[in-house]
Amino acid sequence: MKKEKPYIITFPKIFDPRGSLSFVEGDRHIPFPISRVYWIYDVPAGEARGSHSHIDNRSVIVATSGSFTIHLSDGKRTESFTLNRPFQGLYVPTGYWRTLDNFSSGSVCMVLASHPYSEDDYIRDYDEFLKSCVGENND
Ligand code: TYD
Repeated sequence: MKKEKPYIITFPKIFDPRGSLSFVEGDRHIPFPISRVYWIYDVPAGEARGSHSHIDNRSVIVATSGSFTIHLSDGKRTESFTLNRPFQGLYVPTGYWRTLDNFSSGSVCMVLASHPYSEDDYIRDYDEFLKSCVGENND
């Protein structure tokens, strides 16, 4: 089975002398209905987050403030994306091992998720992740 590819989504951006505004609607700007939103903040310098993959959950990750880098591995190759614009998000399909690092001071990582939180949906062991990739062809 072929994996979906990650890609950057550019959200609507409304310029205003009072400041900019962006918004998203699930299933319209995001390729799934949103069932959960969480955000990561106060990340100490040098710390990394993530290091897991999901079985069903899909995500759009947004740097609502500051910047950080997301590394996505499909089991063979790793692609890295630096997010630093509040009007852009990275779509992360299922089946990618994700690691987030290089958080700038004061950055906020907001994640729009397709599923409610369930620990059963996580693969947190890298070898188990590699086994789950067998038979998935991204070439
Ligand atoms: P964790 O998955 O380790 O965060 P990261 O995305 O950096 O890998 O989650 C940290 C803790 O928070 C863990 O105990 C699970 C809990 N958690 C929830 O309760 N609900 C959620 O929606 C999320 C994302 C995590």
